[in-house]
Amino acid sequence: MASPKPHAVCIPLPAQGHINPMLKLAKLLHFKGFHITFVHTEFNYHRLLNSKPSGFLNSLPDDFQFATIEDGLPPTNPRGILDLPALCKVIPVHGLRSFRSLIAKLSASSNLPDVTCIVSDGVMSFTLEAAQEFGIPEVLLFTPSGCGMLGYLYFEELKERGYFPLKDDSCLTNGYLDTEIDWIPNMKGVRLKDLPTFIRTTDPNDTMFNYNCEAVNNAMKAEGIILNTFDDLEPEVLEVIRTKFPKLYTTGPLSLLHQQVCATNLESVALSLWKENTECLHWLDRIKKPNSVVYVNYGSLVIITPEQLKEFAWGLANSEYPFLWVIRPDLVNGGKEIVSEEYMKVISNRGLLVEWCEQEKVLRHPSVGAFLTHCGWNSTLESICEGVPLMCWPFFAEQQTNCLYSCTKWGIGIEIDGDVKREKVERLVRELMEGEKGKEMRSRSMEWKKKAEASTRPGGPSYNNFEELVKYLKR
Ligand code: UDX
Repeated sequence: MASPKPHAVCIPLPAQGHINPMLKLAKLLHFKGFHITFVHTEFNYHRLLNSKPSGFLNSLPDDFQFATIEDGLPPTNPRGILDLPALCKVIPVHGLRSFRSLIAKLSASSNLPDVTCIVSDGVMSFTLEAAQEFGIPEVLLFTPSGCGMLGYLYFEELKERGYFPLKDDSCLTNGYLDTEIDWIPNMKGVRLKDLPTFIRTTDPNDTMFNYNCEAVNNAMKAEGIILNTFDDLEPEVLEVIRTKFPKLYTTGPLSLLHQQVCATNLESVALSLWKENTECLHWLDRIKKPNSVVYVNYGSLVIITPEQLKEFAWGLANSEYPFLWVIRPDLVNGGKEIVSEEYMKVISNRGLLVEWCEQEKVLRHPSVGAFLTHCGWNSTLESICEGVPLMCWPFFAEQQTNCLYSCTKWGIGIEIDGDVKREKVERLVRELMEGEKGKEMRSRSMEWKKKAEASTRPGGPSYNNFEELVKYLKR
């Protein structure tokens, strides 16, 4: 009789930027013969089903299933946009309770192979407690970049050295954040403002700061750490991370590894929480000129003000380049009047506004020439995979660190000030699309694309690390 399949329970933080890389990893493990249980929160699961055609679940094979846990947020919590601090306060307690019951249920089921490993998001590390109780090995997938992760690893020390919490609110505006931090190994030139933004608070009990400290401390108890990056991209920071986590598997870019290893495996399983507009791909087809469109998207969590929306809107319109702009229904806090009839007339066929798209396909489209992004790590990596240069407008978390590395180390980005102004947007779009600097950035982006491909090809470091990880999880 054939031996039962290994069974991996994969559990991401319930946010799009965490679900996507976990799904890629789950598909890869499935291809390698694992039975997969992919865990959503109940809230996201229903949202997901609402955004999918009916019958979506029937398309799943028997050895790939979804399961749910409670997140602990009260039903009254406004769920339009994920309230991360509220979630981080309750999920370690409610999520753990619920996850424990789930593992017990899966283990007791006679129709399923025994759970042999847990692959948890690094910031859902409360799952380690359940793993220990059931004697199941657990590895953690951290979804930020290596450089972002290194920042989080030094949060405790920032506290010990008195950088956290800030003395008072004036530190946010008086240049204090420009202070150079010269003691984080292999992160020369980094300033306080380039580190993950959760240090920017005067509250010593800040939820997000403490949650992230705890996550990296807990990670020491995991059997291994997976990072969605590749060795060539950030060797110095990975060298330091390896001193803290010797069992580090760099398997990124996961989207490319998935394409190289098993592009068609579970092709119909996409876990977008918003309904994707597909018309925009045809719109891009109709723009025949290669590299001529600016693609604009701020990911799944950013919220902007109507004023910022207005500055971006007129900056893009005035640049006179065609643009595809994703404005999520919950992107703007306080109304998006700018997207008025008058504005639509000005941009006419040159600009297309949609609510959500299939980003990887958009970035792969030959018409796309630049990406105005918030520097979320998935967006940054997906852009690297397609050789598309970046205009960086980092918002929060480790996006500031990703921006620093994109602009100063990898040579693929230019930064827009936090205080966005239409003239600057217009100027930077032109510089990127037609200037010398833009040409340089485009050619650097193509170089990184090739390196990312080499890394995920058979024999490349990310490919080999993934093979090692599979071997380890199948032990
Ligand atoms: C966040 C952080 O920004 C990121 O740095 C962290 O590591 C994970 O959580 P988010 O802000 O949503 O995620 O941005 P990003 O990391 O770029 O992830 C967004 C994902 O949604 C990407 O995989 C992107 O392809 C996808 N997406 C986004 C779409 O498919 N369509 C869209 O219209 C917008």
